[in-house]
Amino acid sequence: MPSSPLRPIWWDGDAVMILDQRLLPHKHKVLRCTTVDDVIRAIKTMAIRGAPAVGIAGAMAAALGARTIMAADVRTFVRKFSRVCERIRSARPTGNNLSWAVDAMFAVVVENPGVDVPRLQQLIREKSQAILEEDVRTNEAIGRWGMEVVPRGARILTYCNAGALATGDYGTALGVIRAAFAADPSLHVTCCETRPFLQGSRLTAYELMAEKIPCTLITDNAAGSLMQQKKIDLVIVGADRIAANGDTANKIGTYALAVLAQANGVPFYVAAPRSTIDPLLPNGSQIPIEERDAKEVTHFYGRLVAPRGMAAVNPAFDVTPHRYITGIITEVGIIRKPFTRGIRRALEAPPPT
Ligand code: MRU
Repeated sequence: MPSSPLRPIWWDGDAVMILDQRLLPHKHKVLRCTTVDDVIRAIKTMAIRGAPAVGIAGAMAAALGARTIMAADVRTFVRKFSRVCERIRSARPTGNNLSWAVDAMFAVVVENPGVDVPRLQQLIREKSQAILEEDVRTNEAIGRWGMEVVPRGARILTYCNAGALATGDYGTALGVIRAAFAADPSLHVTCCETRPFLQGSRLTAYELMAEKIPCTLITDNAAGSLMQQKKIDLVIVGADRIAANGDTANKIGTYALAVLAQANGVPFYVAAPRSTIDPLLPNGSQIPIEERDAKEVTHFYGRLVAPRGMAAVNPAFDVTPHRYITGIITEVGIIRKPFTRGIRRALEAPPPT
């Protein structure tokens, strides 16, 4: 397992260690989680965030829960484990990876009939580590495929944080940028600050600087003007949930960027593992959108900046209709239009070697 200073989550003995992303880039504090509730709290408060990282956290929470289940027989264990899994699943609603990971964890008990409780607990723990390791390999494969859409000297715009911190390591959109930069150090990345949680200015900027990738930070409002001035060659973003037709939920503001990209003739790519795809949703209209605390909008670093008593709405994600998306970069290749067929084929493809 490659180990980078930016990895957001790992096992340390019987504890799940989570890098507290709320404090980055200026403070490096690691939370030691020993219970399911500790991990659920870390997910809800966004100490860990980014759809794939949340999925891994969910898998590890399931392993923590499985370890402490008191059960005289396997049936009781499975019943209690199912309840633990459902509690974890509801920690954040929009990202598909959390449900995907919880399903994969529960599949361990389904796929191992006749196995006793201690062995099931061990297999569940091993599965959580396997999900983490598979995510990193997946991101490296996304990076390799994605390189082909990045022209020499490209000026890339990215949004939110789809980097090592949002995954097991390496990143999806930033994985593509990492891979492209290794081959062409002349590229340049513009990252949007990403109001209100500032994943762009706090996390993406931090990752890019750590890798010495040339980068510039802009306010979210500046993206359209840069595209209009022909200063951006392509946009690459991550995803939280992709419907069967390619409609993509990602951080609030992504839709506006996609529309601006199309209006200015700039290719718009989504980079995501197949675990982000929800083939049961025919389109994006049914993707549940998380509504977060209005305080994230009315306050800045805990300080009220709007008039006292001001109402605010704070949807954390939006859905970009597939017609604005040039391609979806996955670990098994780049899916192009028509997305419905491409997505079906990608889901059937064997994993990368
Ligand atoms: O609210 P967050 O920070 O969890 O939102 C993160 C994003 O929207 C990312 O772009 C997405 O999860 C992809 S991360 C590889």
